[in-house]
Amino acid sequence: MERVCVTGAGGFIGHHLVTFLKAKGYWVRGVDLKYPEYTNVDADEFELLDLRRWDAALQATRGVDHVYALAADMGGMGYISTHHAEILHSNSLINLHTIDAARIHGVQRYLYSSSACIYPEYRQTVTDVVPLKESDAYPAQPQDAYGWEKLFSELLCSYYADEHPMQTRIVRFHNVYGPYGTYDGGREKAPAALCRKVALAGDGGRIEIWGDGAQTRSFCYIDDCVEGIYRIMQSDFAEPLNLGTDEMVSIAELAHVVAEVAGKRDIGLEHVAGPQGVRGRNSDNSLLREVLGWEPTTSLRDGLSPTYQWIEKRLTSGERT
Ligand code: NAD
Ligand code: GDD
Repeated sequence: MERVCVTGAGGFIGHHLVTFLKAKGYWVRGVDLKYPEYTNVDADEFELLDLRRWDAALQATRGVDHVYALAADMGGMGYISTHHAEILHSNSLINLHTIDAARIHGVQRYLYSSSACIYPEYRQTVTDVVPLKESDAYPAQPQDAYGWEKLFSELLCSYYADEHPMQTRIVRFHNVYGPYGTYDGGREKAPAALCRKVALAGDGGRIEIWGDGAQTRSFCYIDDCVEGIYRIMQSDFAEPLNLGTDEMVSIAELAHVVAEVAGKRDIGLEHVAGPQGVRGRNSDNSLLREVLGWEPTTSLRDGLSPTYQWIEKRLTSGERT
């Protein structure tokens, strides 16, 4: 039985990935600062470790064949636009330590969770944006410290693969959403934030939207995300790959789809000031299709339905984070 370590296993994508890998028959060690907030631990072993510490990284990666490196100090625009120093410091330490500890332990494969936030701001200035190809990353100009650190850690993976007997995989996630993801507290991303706001609004009520709502994104459902992570890890492709959908919508459209799945079609939008990030972003999946013969297929409506239902249930049953 192959043994794997998932860092960030107390977080949204990490805990879903643990469940997925257990179902595939892997022995799984989860590592995080915290246990999953909304569900039980599925891992064979779960260790509470701070990967900013070198000794913790050595403990986390011992005795495993593969590492899925998902741990990060992260969140939506509300968080990453206001915590640059903390994010750059913490995530650099986490990634420097985790990959070198994995090398020392002779880990065979190492998957790094990068982000669409690495793409240059100058390619994301209009709402009707050209979808981002992997080769668009350079000349580099990510908008935030979060994106610069991700780009740095991508390079770290590539150099480790060049100079050490360890294979690396680099996945650039595009805004991932689904049940059991953060929906309040300041780190939530737009899909969960809008589900929360719609769930708390009365029929015919109004919800606040940051900006004019014309800014665009594509969103990837969690089931597609974990399937894609696994397929990329199994592949022999070491260069960065987008993992997202190319179903681009405006944030106002996203709010309307949420209102529809909630059965509250007459909800109005109130535009307020807030951090907006890039003006437009979409994924070009050509390379993903070429490499894997696969891409995410869950439509926004199909993915938002279970996401909304889970968030609404949490809010109405009084189970708060
Ligand atoms: P998340 O915040 O739910 O999970 C990240 C986990 O890392 C958290 O549980 C956190 O406690 C843990 N962590 C933070 N600092 C740590 C430390 N010092 N030691 C150990 N664990 C630590 O986020 P997520 O959405 O599950 O994201 C997983 C990965 O994917 C992250 O690397 C993130 O940057 C990347 N990513 C996510 C998205 C998205 O839309 N969710 C988009 C792009 C990239
Ligand atoms: N979070 C949030 N909350 N965003 C809102 C809200 C709200 O209530 N209302 C409108 N928005 C708008 C934001 O202003 C932004 O323009 C857009 O929705 C998307 O915001 P987020 O979902 O917070 O982030 P993002 O798509 O800009 O970036 C996220 O995805 C990246 C990968 O694609 C972040 O989570 C990054 O950390 C991640 O790497």
